Amino acid sequence: MAKKAKTVFVCQECGYESPKWMGQCICGAWNSFVEEKAVELDEADSRRRGSSVKAAMTGGSAASRAAKPTRLAEVKTADYRRMDTGIGELNRVLGGGLVKGSLTLISGEPGIGKSTIIIQAAVWIAENYGTVLYVSGEESEEQIKMRAERVCRGDTKNLFLLAETNMEVIMGVVEQLKPVFLVVDSIQTMYSEELDAAPGSVSQVRICGNLLMRLGKSGDLPIFIVAHVTKSGELAGPKIVEHLVDCVLNFTGERNQDLRILRSYKNRFGTTSEIGAFEMGEDGLTGIENLSGSFLEGLEDGTEGAMATAVYEGTRPLLLEVQALTAPTNIGFARRTALGVDHSRLNMILAVLERKAGISFINQDVYVNIVGGLRPEGTATDLAVALAIYSVYRGIPGDSKTLAMGEIGLTGDLRPVQNGEKMVKEAARMGFTRVILPRRNQEKIREIPSGLRLIGVTNVKEAIEALQG
Ligand code: TYD
Ligand code: MG
Repeated sequence: MAKKAKTVFVCQECGYESPKWMGQCICGAWNSFVEEKAVELDEADSRRRGSSVKAAMTGGSAASRAAKPTRLAEVKTADYRRMDTGIGELNRVLGGGLVKGSLTLISGEPGIGKSTIIIQAAVWIAENYGTVLYVSGEESEEQIKMRAERVCRGDTKNLFLLAETNMEVIMGVVEQLKPVFLVVDSIQTMYSEELDAAPGSVSQVRICGNLLMRLGKSGDLPIFIVAHVTKSGELAGPKIVEHLVDCVLNFTGERNQDLRILRSYKNRFGTTSEIGAFEMGEDGLTGIENLSGSFLEGLEDGTEGAMATAVYEGTRPLLLEVQALTAPTNIGFARRTALGVDHSRLNMILAVLERKAGISFINQDVYVNIVGGLRPEGTATDLAVALAIYSVYRGIPGDSKTLAMGEIGLTGDLRPVQNGEKMVKEAARMGFTRVILPRRNQEKIREIPSGLRLIGVTNVKEAIEALQG
């Protein structure tokens, strides 16, 4: 089949193709266009495509039978068949295990532990379900073997390694080997012969993603695809694979600390608010059961500007420590630095404190940090942020047995948070003796854990009084 190559410009952010270079893409991104060679279908090719579409419409060919629509009522609603990955935290983030035929993208910065978690899952699946194929374009077979031996001591006779980057070759091997689980590490190193663009380019990543999707869906084969991201957390270049796949998992953490958080940004088979926590050690990644405990490790009595709080992540409550610091501004504008807390949320909380607690922050730099590097979603941390700032500003020593939670409204009122009762239970489990919470949450709690005092408050002022009391 004769193919003509033409030059197009592709947006690295959204995949939009343009015949000419543009400074700003229609998606809003600046300087995101890269030049690529696209292969044009020749006339005969497109005619063939057109005729198969026509045949499908009139019900004439084999393709048409495959494309027969099904009545909603006739679709079987059998539960997704899931596989255990042998890693509890990974199962949870996936929504209860690995769904057969699903495509999962694991993204993260280089060196964060993507290959490690995947080899651990691959060894377990190979032991318990059958043949697993681990394709790597990043490392040699010897390197993968060394890692596998370091992290697992299981029986790995069903685990096959392949150092290859050509998609056509990989698909041939899959056809022969018929694995129950396929790993492709990483999509940025793979290429298809169909295109002459370089591996890692938008069009290569897109075609490889498409080929893998077809491979997975037709054979009921679950596939893990590794994708590298840039420092800022963006998928390097091609966001395009994100909407092809069923799940997008992101692996984050500080490289010099052991804690790793796995979070799902998209999940067709479960919730996206679930997180998994791991510790990177000598022999790979181990799930952390008591995550609250590890986040609260450094909380001590008498520290000004430290406050415990609770959030709800996915299906479990999680306790965290908020730290705040205020310092007189030296030159120019007062700085506001927030880590793990939304910046505009912090500004709002400062404005409420100015108004309701009579503090002026105009000449004060304010720093807020959620210890452990987590960025909790939602507003349950508002009250703890406000109290931590108040405590450091007024020099009130903190109490390591007090926890605060609640959303702050613009009028300084406290709004209830969801799952309040479960967070209170977690606080009791972790040995807290006092919880400052919105009155409306307190009223709903039927069973107060023993040893715990609940202080229901309706606004920030009352919360501050409770803190001092
Ligand atoms: P890796 O899984 O290769 O990262 P990625 O695939 O995301 O690029 O992990 C690399 C880092 O993890 C490396 O710095 C070494 C460290 N590591 C451990 O600390 N313990 C282990 O058991 C393994 C396998 C890796
Ligand atoms: Mg790797």
